[in-house]
Amino acid sequence: MAPETHPHLQPPPSWSAIPQDLAVLVLRLLPAYVDRACFAAVCPQWRAAARLPLPPPLPLLALPNGTFYSPPYTKPFRFPGCGFAGYQSVCGNWLVFPRDDGCFLVDPFSRATVTLPALSCVRLRPPNAVAERTDSDKAVDVTWMHIRGSNNLHISKLIVCSPNLVAAFVGFRDTTQILMCQPGALSWSVRAYDRCKTFEDMAFYQGKLYAIADNENLLVVNISEDHKTGDPQVSKIGTVIKGDPWYSVLYEDDDTTPMKKLYLVESCGALLMVRRAIWCRVTGESGSKLVAGQSVFEVFKADFEHSRWDKVTTVGDDQVLFLGRCSRAVSVSQYDFPGDKILFLDDDELDDYDYEDENSCVSTYHLRFHCVTCVTSGYPGIYWKRGGDMHLAAWLFPQDR
Ligand SMILES: *[C@@H]1O[C@H](CO)[C@@H](O)[C@H](O)[C@H]1NC(C)=O
Ligand SMILES: *[C@@H]1O[C@H](CO)[C@@H](O)[C@H](O)[C@H]1NC(C)=O
Repeated sequence: MAPETHPHLQPPPSWSAIPQDLAVLVLRLLPAYVDRACFAAVCPQWRAAARLPLPPPLPLLALPNGTFYSPPYTKPFRFPGCGFAGYQSVCGNWLVFPRDDGCFLVDPFSRATVTLPALSCVRLRPPNAVAERTDSDKAVDVTWMHIRGSNNLHISKLIVCSPNLVAAFVGFRDTTQILMCQPGALSWSVRAYDRCKTFEDMAFYQGKLYAIADNENLLVVNISEDHKTGDPQVSKIGTVIKGDPWYSVLYEDDDTTPMKKLYLVESCGALLMVRRAIWCRVTGESGSKLVAGQSVFEVFKADFEHSRWDKVTTVGDDQVLFLGRCSRAVSVSQYDFPGDKILFLDDDELDDYDYEDENSCVSTYHLRFHCVTCVTSGYPGIYWKRGGDMHLAAWLFPQDR
């Protein structure tokens, strides 16, 4: 037993002496990534507590000019050291930087990097594939063989399915094909004769890769290994849910028309398709110009047993869907943060329509009330100027590590 001392002479207990379970209780209540990072920086004991499984913090908002926000704070912050400006896509905790000599994934939280092959190194399947001649009187399906020469090939979506599997939509404007590779490999793999599609999103769900095209069919991508190299490749693409396509050909009236975007996101164990209609006003001399207005969302759950999309009216009071180039559902019940909402960004890549407001921001859609609370009320104070590559604003999810 320690000798008895006068209570006033006892040294103050060290912060690091807080039992780990108390530290975890504190961490669980911190919704902001930056607060958790500061907490973890106090001492090794608290760092260890922050490494335990915890409910995820709110995602960060990344802007392509290298500015990050850690909601609910509205003050920008920079990761220490070099900036992370100029990414082309975001996947979970990864920023994707395409370069001529290869693609780079960088995790700004841990500084880990992963190298992927350059988009010019694509292995064809079959290897002897040749471009079909395009006769003017015979419509030929556009395949990888037609778009592969384009100088403007870009990655519209990339996902890291596992440490051994990366899949991406690569193409020209909205005509894309599914490419896959193993990190560190020398080439991507593609099926040369598959028809390119207007792929909208993809998700790795329960160990399988799913993709959705604009016709709302849910596709499952069957993956096999190349016998020689062991590299992953698409062996077959099957339709698991036949969609009920909803095209924006029908004008509600002469003045407005909806433009559509689809997202796939896993929430509470289910795979959801979120259909976003961006209502545009038709203006201009010959009705040629579209100006984006309000977004309206509908959520559907994949019913694999009956091969159909079931409409749902709620995602649950504790869930918030963060939709963008990379989407996730985040449980917010412990944060005193109301759920059953969609937080979304103006992440359109194509200039099919214009915006009136020169600033873009985080908007909130309330599923219960079927309405958007305008702009800035989601995260007041966070907004950025449109134009340039700022449509690449995206959510970044530190918990994916
Ligand atoms: C891929 O397809 C084959 C042949 O249809 C099937 O046997 C296999 O289970 C599929 N694999 C996956 C992961 O779906
Ligand atoms: C990046 O964009 C934001 C929002 O428009 C702006 O506040 C910030 O100053 C910009 N940062 C740099 C480094 O240009």
